[in-house]
Amino acid sequence: MIKFADVIVDLQAGDTGKGKVANFLVESDPTYTHIIRYNGGGNAGHTFYKGDTKIVTHHIPVGVIHNKISIIGPGCVVNPKKLLEEIHYLEEMGFDVKTNLKIDKRVHIIKDEYVLEDNTDTRIGTTKTGNGQAYRNKYDRTGLRSEDCSELKDYIIDIYDELYNKGDVQILFEGAQGFELDIDWGDYPYVTSSHCTIGGAIMNGVPPQKIRNIYGIAKAYRTYVGSKKFEPNDTIFDKIRNEFGEFGATTGRPRQLNWLDIDSIIKSININGVTHLIFNKLDVLRSINEFNIISQNETIRLDSCEDFTNKIEERIIKSCPSIQSIKFSESPYEV
Ligand code: IMO
Ligand code: MG
Repeated sequence: MIKFADVIVDLQAGDTGKGKVANFLVESDPTYTHIIRYNGGGNAGHTFYKGDTKIVTHHIPVGVIHNKISIIGPGCVVNPKKLLEEIHYLEEMGFDVKTNLKIDKRVHIIKDEYVLEDNTDTRIGTTKTGNGQAYRNKYDRTGLRSEDCSELKDYIIDIYDELYNKGDVQILFEGAQGFELDIDWGDYPYVTSSHCTIGGAIMNGVPPQKIRNIYGIAKAYRTYVGSKKFEPNDTIFDKIRNEFGEFGATTGRPRQLNWLDIDSIIKSININGVTHLIFNKLDVLRSINEFNIISQNETIRLDSCEDFTNKIEERIIKSCPSIQSIKFSESPYEV
């Protein structure tokens, strides 16, 4: 039976450090038994470190590298060829993927023809991984599910059996993409095709009463990759991008940047019911010594890092009753 589930949700447009936080939580809390990806597919790129080794995953939950049962949940879509490549990549590093990785039988398959179709996209600026086409056909009821895909047969399970018929289960949900890319809450049509909020996690077989901590992840500034114009004209953003490697982990495209939008973060915290809030990459702002927040489309310039964090805390505490803790991280490894 499920004892509890903690959920990681991204409060911005992806690439906020969900992989790092998931890795850190699994490492620091050995009581998690299952790590579950609840949305998205190979469009995600989660970067984290095991010791000094940098690891980038797309489909596979971080639990695999900690010998935890790691499930690709029914809210996800999977490209079998890409997944098998990723399995091989992790096996080459010495991780036991065969024992730990499970795929729910309801997961939809990304077919080769979807990837070809997605490659013609210029309108949205997708990751060209066939993600949108897989969800489109799922909802059109013409998709192919993993239970009917022979390439994945060694990994297929029924998530209901795994979560309800096999002893105590303590879950960490690892989300993909983020609030500003959510199909309903994002800036449509510049969104992905899945549910990136807490609602998306619950759709994977866990009832709302079992949710314990909701970790909301943001960066101390904002990034976005895609076709819409997002970055204001200011060379400071080139400097951040180049010095701190703000390029997509899946596509290598330059990420567009802007300062933190506090109103958007507040909205995202409230809609997700975030209990524990983590801002990553404060070290970047400290290093360039610029501390700006956008509110109501106005840029507020703050004199110091302390003023910046105080201002954010003040606004969030005032507007977000669900919040229990706020942390600012300056490390690629820890929270
Ligand atoms: P993680 O999990 C950042 C963006 C794409 C594009 C839009 C739609 O690493 O945070 P899609 O391929 O999903 O149809 O593209 O969503 N996008 C991401 N941006 N991080 C991601 O994942 C993303 N996954 C999709 O750049 O604008
Ligand atoms: Mg990413």
